[in-house]
Amino acid sequence: MKYLILSGNPKKDGLCHSLTEEAKRGAADGGAETEVITLEKLERCHVCGNGWGTCREKHTCAFGKDGFNEVQAKVRSADAFCFITPVYWAETAESLKCFFDRFRRCENMMNSNGALSGKQVLLIASPGGSGNGMLTCLEQMDRFCRHTNAVIFDYIGVNRWNSDYKKTAIYAAAKAMAGGRKNGETV
Ligand SMILES: Cc1cc2nc3c(=O)[nH]c(=O)nc-3n(C[C@H](O)[C@H](O)[C@H](O)COP(=O)(O)O)c2cc1C
Repeated sequence: MKYLILSGNPKKDGLCHSLTEEAKRGAADGGAETEVITLEKLERCHVCGNGWGTCREKHTCAFGKDGFNEVQAKVRSADAFCFITPVYWAETAESLKCFFDRFRRCENMMNSNGALSGKQVLLIASPGGSGNGMLTCLEQMDRFCRHTNAVIFDYIGVNRWNSDYKKTAIYAAAKAMAGGRKNGETV
């Protein structure tokens, strides 16, 4: 299986980076082919026309050549996911938010044919400052999953004083997903 990690983290070190490594390691140990994609190079939604562009009928973004098309194709071909972000302003990092904005438009009316439909997603938010904003950030990612018919495997919030045991949870969650554990199974 292909396990794709979509990250809003702009940094190559620190808390959020270390959590991403745990998800990657867990998925790989569960037998998955893993890839991490960071999204900070992608542009925001241009809000074409009167509110809809090619996203509505063609399910593609008119500005997709900035790298969005490539990520969209990778999402379509992957089997399971982790969305991970540092918490900024009690929300996801702007890069992940911009991707969500564009991607869910392209998923409009796709129902069960959507790129994320029925696929499991692990949601991770790391508020590394005050620790505030974890729930609102996870809720924002939850809403994206509802819009795209993704199946949320788990929600993990990580701050500076719980990261030791939450890292263990991230590793175990990604490994379980990669190993084929389905929502609703009893462990
Ligand atoms: C613009 C900005 C806004 C932030 N807002 C919050 C916040 O609302 N709550 C919080 O706990 N940390 C906040 N932080 C801190 C980040 O969450 C922290 O940098 C992040 O968890 C990553 O930690 P790391 O840099 O060690 O990877 C903010 C950081 C930035 C740059």
